[in-house]
Amino acid sequence: MPYRRKFLTRAGYTTLSALLTMGFLQKDKQKEEPSAKELVLNYTAKNYPLRELAAAKGKRYGAAISSDILLKDKDYANLIARECSIVTPNGELKWNATEPQQGLFTFESADAIANFCQKHNIDMHGHTLFWHMGKPDWLPYPPTLKMIERHVKGVMGHYRNSKVLKSWDIANEIIADNENETDNPTYGLRKGVKPELIRDLFLIAASVDNSKEFYLNDFGIEGATWKSERFLKMVEYLKNSGVKIDGAGIQSHLWFSTAYSFDEKGFNSVLKRLNDLEVKPIITELDIIIDAPLPDSIEKLDQMIADSYKRYLDLCFAAKVDTVITWGLTDRHTWIRHPDWMPGKTFRDNPNLWKFLRPLPFDEKFQPKPAYNAIAQAFEQAT
Ligand code: G3I
Repeated sequence: MPYRRKFLTRAGYTTLSALLTMGFLQKDKQKEEPSAKELVLNYTAKNYPLRELAAAKGKRYGAAISSDILLKDKDYANLIARECSIVTPNGELKWNATEPQQGLFTFESADAIANFCQKHNIDMHGHTLFWHMGKPDWLPYPPTLKMIERHVKGVMGHYRNSKVLKSWDIANEIIADNENETDNPTYGLRKGVKPELIRDLFLIAASVDNSKEFYLNDFGIEGATWKSERFLKMVEYLKNSGVKIDGAGIQSHLWFSTAYSFDEKGFNSVLKRLNDLEVKPIITELDIIIDAPLPDSIEKLDQMIADSYKRYLDLCFAAKVDTVITWGLTDRHTWIRHPDWMPGKTFRDNPNLWKFLRPLPFDEKFQPKPAYNAIAQAFEQAT
């Protein structure tokens, strides 16, 4: 429970409040494109799997998945196999799962996902070698270099010859949320974390297996913010240090509202700066919440979410993003609906509003929603 509470604090207040600066549901009166609704209806008739629509444009679509659900729910497994060309293990590769006791490694649940990927020709994104939250109790944060070396050798070593595991989030969420939570104003790293430690982590990873793509992954960087500036500086530092870093994971746990606007210009500039640095931006944990004022029906809400998906992905694809991973595939399994992690002030104390948390492309009965069609449409229109 203490862990859960910590998580809630972060998710409820910090993660998501960082995103409260966003929202592009406000009407853009200048554009005269067909409304998303018309296009969405066309798409329902086609009902293509997203992985095929993505592949037609040289892109990948995928979702975070859990091994326990995969093993016991055939419908879930079938849906993942049909829609996804890449998956991220929800928790199976985190330090607390792979090295629960110091020096003792276990890969049973992560291997179950890898085997599933092998069978269905799906790529696997390795998440993550270094994270202040997905850590066993015995591990300090930050860990010592010796602990990091043993862990990275153990985990990356296990997947060195894997044909499906193609990329790693080498480090996750190392940037603090604001200047009060760092003692390093330049890079904004979480307290105690030094840039040299992250550089060495990347160096160790490259010494174990440099055949995979290496990512730095974070949230709250989808616009011009204190945090995105530090994230970009850290990416630049790693590049300048001669370290192998192939990409940046932009998590994209997004909140949109008609009450505030999305920093489209700032987001474009983050994508451009990453491309200029030759660090490939990918979307690693996309899900969308509509914040108050809420519409008066689920149909309207689903349409607002779909419109948000479409506009966000249009921006991503215009900047050559080639991989989009949603944090789950169906609303049945979204982390956002878990009572312990219920987000911020609009929802947590209002159980009657929880039905408005519908962040993913499929509903709780595994039926495609307008968001699914919007993602399909974005892939089809991508150049
Ligand atoms: O599977 C067990 C279950 O057997 C047990 O009965 C239950 C009792 O508490 O716990 C279940 O495990 C939980 C697991 O999620 C699966 O639901 C863990 O307690 C819980 O800590 C774990 O939380 C995950 C969290 O990361 C911490 O690892 C969330 O599902 C997952 O969505 C979340 O993912 C993070 C990304 O890694 C990083 N970015 C933010 C994202 C969302 O917070």
